[in-house]
Amino acid sequence: MHRFIKPLWVTLLAACAHTAPPPAPPTAAATPADTAPNQAWWKEVVVFQIYPRSFRDTDGDGIGDLRGITSQLDYIKSLGVDVVWLNPIYQSPNDDNGYDISDYRAIMSEMGSMADFDAMLRGMHQRGLKLIMDLVVNHTSDEHRWFEQSRSSRDNPYRAYYHWWPAEKGTPPKRWSFFDEEGSAWRYDSTTRAYYLHYFSRKQPDLNWENPQVRREVYAIMKFWLDKGVDGFRMDAIPFISKDTTFPPLPAEYAGNYVAYYAKGPHLHDYLREMNQEVLGRYNDLNVGEGGGVTVDDALKFVAADRHELQTFFEFDIVDHWGRRPSNFLYADSGNRSLVALKNIFNRWDSVYAQSGWGTVFLGNHDQSRMVSRYGNDAPPYRKASAKMLHTLLLTMRATPYVYNGDEIGMANIRFTDIRDYRDLMTINYYNRLEREGGDLREFLASQAEVSRDNGRTPMQWAADTNAGFTRGIPWIRVNPDYRTVNVAAEERDTSSVLHYFRRMIKLRKAEPALVYGRFQLLDRANPDVFAYARSLNGRTLMVALSFSKAGGRTSVPAGYSAGRIVISNLAGSPLRGGQLLLEPYQAVVLELQKN
Ligand code: NOJ
Repeated sequence: MHRFIKPLWVTLLAACAHTAPPPAPPTAAATPADTAPNQAWWKEVVVFQIYPRSFRDTDGDGIGDLRGITSQLDYIKSLGVDVVWLNPIYQSPNDDNGYDISDYRAIMSEMGSMADFDAMLRGMHQRGLKLIMDLVVNHTSDEHRWFEQSRSSRDNPYRAYYHWWPAEKGTPPKRWSFFDEEGSAWRYDSTTRAYYLHYFSRKQPDLNWENPQVRREVYAIMKFWLDKGVDGFRMDAIPFISKDTTFPPLPAEYAGNYVAYYAKGPHLHDYLREMNQEVLGRYNDLNVGEGGGVTVDDALKFVAADRHELQTFFEFDIVDHWGRRPSNFLYADSGNRSLVALKNIFNRWDSVYAQSGWGTVFLGNHDQSRMVSRYGNDAPPYRKASAKMLHTLLLTMRATPYVYNGDEIGMANIRFTDIRDYRDLMTINYYNRLEREGGDLREFLASQAEVSRDNGRTPMQWAADTNAGFTRGIPWIRVNPDYRTVNVAAEERDTSSVLHYFRRMIKLRKAEPALVYGRFQLLDRANPDVFAYARSLNGRTLMVALSFSKAGGRTSVPAGYSAGRIVISNLAGSPLRGGQLLLEPYQAVVLELQKN
């Protein structure tokens, strides 16, 4: 059992060109709950997340670039996805790989130029792909002109762009930092004898959203990109923007849970409504909020249509589960791989959006270890089947699926064992702290091998060539040695690959409105090995059965139905024995159900 030192947020932690075919008229068997509610193009898309730094390098500096993305647009289109989300590509000193922005209207020099960006966006739009950008406006870089001005003197016009606590008031009330080596979100700055607030690293000072001028700057940045033609935003750490600027001691009810406190600032929803009025409501965009501390009880405050705030939100209960238990802001491996609990979390989140709002579903991103290593099994006999099983899950949920680059070929964790291989400031800062405090570094490294963000950030594996075809230079982070077998070129040649299955699953979702809008019903809830559910729309019912176990699993067709055609399966044989399904290890099937 490992004790994980990992901040809570990490794991708590897409013009109507695209319209679904109108649903068939309800049949006698359909209940009102089985008819499609409020259709919208952004509910029907599949989003492909690209981590640009690790996607494709064309100039040999070992860092992915925009020309690299442009060179792979036909590949991206071939997947069947509709929208691309890019992690930050703005000018940045890269303390946190672009989540520390020093110029919101410029491209990071390592990644190219604005002309490269325009060419990439044109190429996407020519292929019918949309682009959403990462909007990082809870904080900037400390190298942003605003902050350089702000810190220069107490009466600088930019002073109130950030949160300052003058030293003569004493030490500011405790605020925790997610990344800081010393854990404090206040950093003393001798120039003006004051502390500035940084929820993330000390190079990521928090913007003062309470200042209307800051909000106007943010809206202008958003319009700049939308007017350039981008199709929306993924909004980083958005629940943290509003703060009580008197900075009272943390209220007792949040004792031990600062993330929930950070997510409940006094004017958060006023600002999101204002942002919607000023910007989002004027464009046909796709937007998705990101940030810890949002629960089933307050998710609708962000996304209910009549609130005119955001469209969708990433929630973290799912990626938070599965072996990890928050324990006083550290993560401990609970040993818990309870599928039953995971199913209940999916069920609970589906019910939040059953009448209003709309969800998202993802199992991996740049802040998570690889989905196949975590929820599946990356041992050679199971990697393909379990990656396909997880794609079956992602693409059959009532929510907009986000698929992380590399997962479409089943990339796995690299599991570094040496701190010198790590590039993520979070792992490095915690390691340094632990070293200073005399903590157990071996145990920490063992936990990071499974949970570190760098597991999800190794270079995209294109081919069995040097550096997996990612770069002709020295990659900024090591390539997973399994690239010799796990790579795009090999999977293109093999029609039984994860990649081919992923494309088939996307086609299936596009062909079956029930998989997008259909009612979700959890089946066989207590089954510890099999995740089974039904999706029903306009009298058509599909059953999904997924084995999460190397022992396989068994389940049955629900009472009142009989099994029809199997529409897709990740393995060759049929699991059907009458009304029983005998699943092979990590088998996934989608089948038609007929009412008796
Ligand atoms: C969430 C982003 O996904 C993560 O990568 C980043 O470190 C933090 N927000 C801070 O911007």
